Amino acid sequence: MKLKSLFVSAAIAASMPMMAWNGSVLISTPNTSMLLHADEGSDLRFAYYGERIDESEIHQIHDAWDGLNQAAYPAFGEKVHELTALQVVHADGNMSLELTVQGVETHDAGDAVETVITLADDVYPFTVDLHYRAYKDVDVIESWATYKHNEKKDVVLQRFDSFQMPIRQGDVWISHLYGSWAAETSVATEPLQPGIKVISNIDGSRNGHLSHPDVMISLDGKPQENQGRVYGAVLCWSGNFKLRFQTEYRNVHKFFIGMNDEASEYRLAKGEVFETPKVALTYTAKGLSGASRNYHRWARKHGMVYGSDKPHDVLLNSWEGVYFDVFEPKMDEMMRDFAAIGGEMFVMDDGWFGTKYKRNNDKGALGDWIVDTTKLPNGIQGLVNTADKYGLKFGIWVEPEATNVESVLYEKHPDWALNVKGRNQHYGRGGGQMLLDLCNPKVQDFIYNMVDTLLTNYPGIAYIKWDANVELKNYGSSYLPAYKQSHIYIDYHRGLVNVLERIRAKHPDVVIQACGGGGGRVSYGVMPYFDEFWVSDNTDALQRIFIQWGTSYFYPANAMAQHVSASPNHQTGRVVPLKFRFDVAMSGRLGMEMQPGSMTDAEREYAKKTIGEYKEILRPIVQQGNLYRLVSPYDDKGYASLMYTNDDASRAIVFAYKMKHFNNMLVPRLRLDGLDASKTYEFRELSVPVGENPSHLNGKRIKGAILMNTGFEIPLDREYSSRVYELVAID
Ligand code: GLA
Repeated sequence: MKLKSLFVSAAIAASMPMMAWNGSVLISTPNTSMLLHADEGSDLRFAYYGERIDESEIHQIHDAWDGLNQAAYPAFGEKVHELTALQVVHADGNMSLELTVQGVETHDAGDAVETVITLADDVYPFTVDLHYRAYKDVDVIESWATYKHNEKKDVVLQRFDSFQMPIRQGDVWISHLYGSWAAETSVATEPLQPGIKVISNIDGSRNGHLSHPDVMISLDGKPQENQGRVYGAVLCWSGNFKLRFQTEYRNVHKFFIGMNDEASEYRLAKGEVFETPKVALTYTAKGLSGASRNYHRWARKHGMVYGSDKPHDVLLNSWEGVYFDVFEPKMDEMMRDFAAIGGEMFVMDDGWFGTKYKRNNDKGALGDWIVDTTKLPNGIQGLVNTADKYGLKFGIWVEPEATNVESVLYEKHPDWALNVKGRNQHYGRGGGQMLLDLCNPKVQDFIYNMVDTLLTNYPGIAYIKWDANVELKNYGSSYLPAYKQSHIYIDYHRGLVNVLERIRAKHPDVVIQACGGGGGRVSYGVMPYFDEFWVSDNTDALQRIFIQWGTSYFYPANAMAQHVSASPNHQTGRVVPLKFRFDVAMSGRLGMEMQPGSMTDAEREYAKKTIGEYKEILRPIVQQGNLYRLVSPYDDKGYASLMYTNDDASRAIVFAYKMKHFNNMLVPRLRLDGLDASKTYEFRELSVPVGENPSHLNGKRIKGAILMNTGFEIPLDREYSSRVYELVAID
């Protein structure tokens, strides 16, 4: 299809009093539409994003709201007194851009329809293509921009947002994630107030520890989980980002989202194309959980390597069990004990490498990816064989983007670390850690070759935990020329993507976890190359309920690695029953992070039974299911609850956790969601400790309508009570 093919038909336009909307571009998913107004030679206007409309209704949108007054992608130079999405300095020093529509093109892109709106300046040869990819099977539209020019010298890009959208003012609230190490993905909920609200990060290497480039925008007052109109926006970028909401005395909030422009001026050569990261947008009238379900479905179908249909294994990670002491007999023991309770994969964490410098703590050896045979005399193959002996798959930890002062790699290639010429290095973790310079193709090759060699030499490696423990501290690249030093924040991540794409092309089936010193790499920027995220180094089950709650706003359960760890917990010292720890971890990708041999016989028996239930009953519904968050831990009701259903709502899994315990406290009735109101469901209680009886609900049959309207009494009668029920439709 060519120019104007998406415009409303002449017949419809002719019936209107004016031809004002004859350049409308309608971009639709199964249940949503976005409407732009693109008159050739005029600036591009944003008209609407919401419930799906058809072409015959376009004029009604215009009649209902004069949305055409809102610029869709404002550039500096048109209205210099307003915030803009794009700002450049032309080769001759002029700073203005006035972009008008040159054409609209649409084409079928398989699972999506792609629309490209071309804008150009009429004085300078500078062009912007705005891309909109509307999925056919899920309510997500991806949007991004590409720039190119034909000026004599470089054009300097000073701001380069991926997307801008006006949002009608009213009672608009935003929900976003923030935190820090071991307290990631806390949910912040706030109304938009006058002024400019900025959510940004400047870590340089990870963008999931502090703030996140992911936001929900609730249009109908204080956000609710299962009702109300909500927009979602996530930036698919692993580097620094900036989200801006401008609220002034006018009828729209202006929302901008893109890479962070801080210290990031980008010189674009003649003919070169600059592409911004994609923003994935969604809209729903089904509350925050509805927006989450849209993202989860989109991620599983279109965003993850592993895809939606493969179950993620139940694994044991060695970190909290032995930390750096990954001695072969200990590895053997852990594998034996984990296999005995039904585990599927063993992952050896940090500590396995280093020759001249040993990896016995976090001070040295990063970059020296050679097995430490004093710990592992039979090398990696020996461990693969042991895993095989116990019927387990094998995985291994690496941190490819970093090096230590105490490493052979750094001794040989000091210029491969990011460094500021003439200044002393600043160090991260362990007092000696630095980031490698991924702007440098030689460094990219080194990392690719290291991972490729590992996977090629040991085809038995089924899983990699790819860690990133250090922020970008030394803003200088020995590779980039002086006039391009301000490219580091962006080129680092382009270099990372280059490496990951090559690894994925050669090793598509290896499961790779993104870890960022805990949850630092929970990001849609790396999602296309990774199968799951380590969401936090905090494995305390109580705190984890909050961390997982926030992560689930945007990321699907099969990407959320959740591990049962020891009690007292290593981070908080909290003592929590094993059942509670399992029940929390089972609401995502279940794993363990402890010495399985340290459990009592009764605990081992319980763990074996419960892992079996997870694999057979919970996993298919939790990992592929539709999430309904029911009672928020943030609402301070004394308990929290969430559930998953399968697609036809014939099965559901319900989780409930007691968060606080006082005598005679009121535990409210739990009302479910997402069930078939007309069907009757039978309760089956799972994860029942050995020697205990299931609650009175076990075996009860209750109609979906009653479960959703009236609800039921959830037996959470003790401190750290928790319940897991399977509901099966029986008619
Ligand atoms: C980071 C990770 C942990 C563990 C250690 C190993 O902190 O988040 O899970 O892998 O590194 O050093």
